[in-house]
Amino acid sequence: MTIKGLDPNVLSQVRSQKPPHFKLEKVIRKNILNLEPYRCARDDYQQGILLDANENSLGHSLPQNSSIPHDKPSTTTNGSSSSSSTPIKGSGSDDDLSLHRYPDPSLHGIKSSLAKLRRVPNQDFICLGVGSDEILDLIQRCCANPGKDKILICPPTYGMYSVCAAVNDVEVVKVPLITEGGRFSLDVERVNQVLSQDPAIKLVFLCSPGNPTGTLLPLSDVVPILENPKYDGIVVVDEAYIDFAEEERNMGRRDPSVEVSAVSLVDQYQNLLVTQTLSKAFGLAAIRLGIAFGQPPLIQIMNNTKAPYNISVPTAHLASLALSEKGLEKMRANVRTLIRNRDELIRDLSTVKGCGEVLGSNQANFVLVRILDPQGKPSNEVAQSVYRRMAEERGLVVRNRSKDLGCDACLRITVGTKEENERCISLMKQLLENDGQWTD
Ligand SMILES: Cc1ncc(COP(=O)(O)O)c(C=O)c1O
Repeated sequence: MTIKGLDPNVLSQVRSQKPPHFKLEKVIRKNILNLEPYRCARDDYQQGILLDANENSLGHSLPQNSSIPHDKPSTTTNGSSSSSSTPIKGSGSDDDLSLHRYPDPSLHGIKSSLAKLRRVPNQDFICLGVGSDEILDLIQRCCANPGKDKILICPPTYGMYSVCAAVNDVEVVKVPLITEGGRFSLDVERVNQVLSQDPAIKLVFLCSPGNPTGTLLPLSDVVPILENPKYDGIVVVDEAYIDFAEEERNMGRRDPSVEVSAVSLVDQYQNLLVTQTLSKAFGLAAIRLGIAFGQPPLIQIMNNTKAPYNISVPTAHLASLALSEKGLEKMRANVRTLIRNRDELIRDLSTVKGCGEVLGSNQANFVLVRILDPQGKPSNEVAQSVYRRMAEERGLVVRNRSKDLGCDACLRITVGTKEENERCISLMKQLLENDGQWTD
């Protein structure tokens, strides 16, 4: 097998990695395996008068002195919002970000910062996407033949795996998490059994920490799936919320000798892809930057398949600031604050009559709480009523997850600022304790 754009020596080195039975060419669609990486004149020449890419030679068309608002809008007393802003143009340069040029597709700077941050050997282990949602779709497009192949998911889980499968005409096989007692764990034995029996399953999606479960999957549960000798496909671990678990380790709340991120396994396993994002801990959902970590052959195939200029120049610029030392410091400080706010939110929810147990093990920036009727029984109707009335009458929006497996009568509440959390608790008290309006 050859992969276009990949050094053949790298391919033979990877062949000796775990698991011994894995063959990448068996899981990648034939048409995808044959793709050439996109090439343009700028791969060879970056300097001089650039008349190669049909860009606009006059520059961008933004009005003079345009600016990008950057801080969180602060609501004034009259309800309007204000924000500070940064000029797009810098002093002495016509256009600091060269907005009229296509981005540099190599994205060398961001990838090398990410390689250092997540401790993978180099940038050949990284593919970048428009949010991790693009990566989750891309890997399905690379591996699953429409109308023929399948993916496996473990509900309750993130909805986009199934949405992408529907778009790509790929069947979804479900092996639910074990949900007894409000705890969520992977049914490793059952997952492996199903994988062993169905060669059409090309991808397994595991979410850690899970959405909506908030629960980290121990790597000791992931490894037996990676090593299943009867499974020829790829294991995708979606770690959108991993920095909340990582920071707990730095705060001394978990054993520092136990790795939490599956990225620590990427160097050993050819059949592993880990996805992360700047949307959660980094607070940059608007810029849409997702990351995939995997071994170079798989990453090269994904890079050959994606659109060549998927990451915009403004996104790359803001991501590189977020990945600077100062940016990382701020991210970690914010994550610590959110973890403390989460503790307080959980404590305060336990004081609300009508709020039952908080499910899962709370390793992300949200909590999943059971809503009860006046008899103390979980009630989807009351959960729906609280959800709707908080949004429509009080302007506070949470998510109703009652229909998800193992999440009966549950609302998922994103951890807010201290004030936002206090407001949420006070509204829940009003609706569940004072009003006594249990149902719509
Ligand atoms: C588990 C999980 N994965 C991925 C995503 C998508 O993230 P992104 O903004 O990087 O597309 C989300 C967003 O809510 C999520 O909860």
